[in-house]
Amino acid sequence: MNSNRTPLLAANWKMNHHWENCEQYCAALRENLPEYFGASADNPAVVAPGVELAIFPPLPYLSLIYRLLEDSTIFLGSQDVSRYEEGAFTGEVSSLMLSDVGCDYCLLGHSERRDMLGETDADVALKLKRLQQAEVMPVICVGESRAQREAGRAVEHTLAQLSELKDELGSFDLGGFVIAYEPIWAIGTGHNASPQDAQEMAAAIRTWLRDSLNDELADSTLLLYGGSVSPDNIRPYLECPDIDGALIGGSSLDADKYAQMARIALELAG
Ligand code: 13P
Repeated sequence: MNSNRTPLLAANWKMNHHWENCEQYCAALRENLPEYFGASADNPAVVAPGVELAIFPPLPYLSLIYRLLEDSTIFLGSQDVSRYEEGAFTGEVSSLMLSDVGCDYCLLGHSERRDMLGETDADVALKLKRLQQAEVMPVICVGESRAQREAGRAVEHTLAQLSELKDELGSFDLGGFVIAYEPIWAIGTGHNASPQDAQEMAAAIRTWLRDSLNDELADSTLLLYGGSVSPDNIRPYLECPDIDGALIGGSSLDADKYAQMARIALELAG
């Protein structure tokens, strides 16, 4: 972590949890992390603690979670968005709709969507534009397969994903975004990347941002690590100078574990 950037712990629930779990989950956060709660109409500006938290529930529960966390400084994120702006696109949800229901963040290009649902770099680029028009912060997911890592091509592949996205965007004026480095082989497997490898990748991404975009984005962009993060292993990632938080799947489904990880991040953020 670096004191110039506010760390972010993003909880990606994927297609898990149901309506009744949402209430229990938020109640547990309220109990375990009271410093994130307490905003009211009289006191809307509760000072956010030094670590940002964001929950990415399944789409139908966004409004419910928004309501359950309304008096908190915890952010809300969507797991996906339509590439289209509006119209006859059955089943799609637009970036403006996400903004309407209080979404601050949205995941883009998660490897599960790229590999299983056919999402392409062109899709990711269009979705990124839509999100920025709606002022929803994109969380762009990148990362290599096991074969690419074993072939020594992890950094090359991951930076190529970013370069392809930049090419797709053309002269589009890139605003802010978050990048999540999620090696595909580490997702849901319990075989996480070593903190050294994750730091090496984060440093390479930051250099790419500096060389391909600009100094401001290189210095300000949050870089998250994702892939089998848990309360038992999160600390050394957060101690890496170029890693600014985590994108957490399985372990974030348990509110107590998520709160434990937040506690560790808060302690390191001082
Ligand atoms: P796990 O933490 O379950 O490995 O999932 C990581 C992930 O894909 C978060 O987006």
